[in-house]
Amino acid sequence: MKEKPIGIFDSGVGGLTVVKEITAILPNENILYLGDTARVPYGIRSPETVIKYSLECADFLFKKGIKILVVACNTSSSISLEILKKRFPIPVIGVIIPGIRAALKVTKNKKIGVIGTEATIQSNAYSEVINILDPNIEIISKACPLFVPIVEEGILEGAIADLIIERYLLDLKHSGIDTLILGCTHYPLLKNSIQKFMNGINLVDSATEVAKEVKQILSKENLINTVNTKGDRKFFVTDAPLRFKRIGELFLNTEIKEIFQISLKEAE
Ligand code: DGL
Repeated sequence: MKEKPIGIFDSGVGGLTVVKEITAILPNENILYLGDTARVPYGIRSPETVIKYSLECADFLFKKGIKILVVACNTSSSISLEILKKRFPIPVIGVIIPGIRAALKVTKNKKIGVIGTEATIQSNAYSEVINILDPNIEIISKACPLFVPIVEEGILEGAIADLIIERYLLDLKHSGIDTLILGCTHYPLLKNSIQKFMNGINLVDSATEVAKEVKQILSKENLINTVNTKGDRKFFVTDAPLRFKRIGELFLNTEIKEIFQISLKEAE
């Protein structure tokens, strides 16, 4: 059981921000990653569609014999996490709660901003969970749909990135928040540019917190892989493996070797 892989899925390449952090603190773990590149983006789709796609991704990984499932996609976590948790007899974790916990630790004035895809913001998942954990927090949310495509184009800083950031975040900058949750897989790559604009505001990205939570759960369940060798990483995509490799290497900062193109019909 300990040598079984950690399963991680995302709508595409963005979940590699989570893979990077998990690999950093759990280097011996084997990882199976699925990016649903044929159907990305999830962030503009209806809740019904996001749930259907998420179930197909999760089924695929579960059938490969994973020991824990990480829903690295914020959109999918916002909409389908509870359904996935009920469906599988293994730990299933999303990215929303770890991100919120990190934000609650750093906010002083209890005013928190949340940015994400349209589907994530419309789902109200962040607001609902924050309200349960601390009803005194004021939340201001904003969808930033252009952030995903610019990151995938490798536009992480410079005039274009700055203009788009200003357009989406100007109101938030002057809203009195002291903390901003980057509620989307892609946004950590824009962190430097966002930080430059949101000067003095704490930026929280959930990837590091998710990795810590995976480690905690695996330790608690006695599932940490105890072999001495570096873990094996396999990447599955539903379309365009070469594009995944090119953009994914930007996210991971290392070479992506084992990529396999699959059809999610295999999950049936
Ligand atoms: N992975 C998605 C998220 O974190 C961003 C890309 C998409 O819209 O599918 O919300």
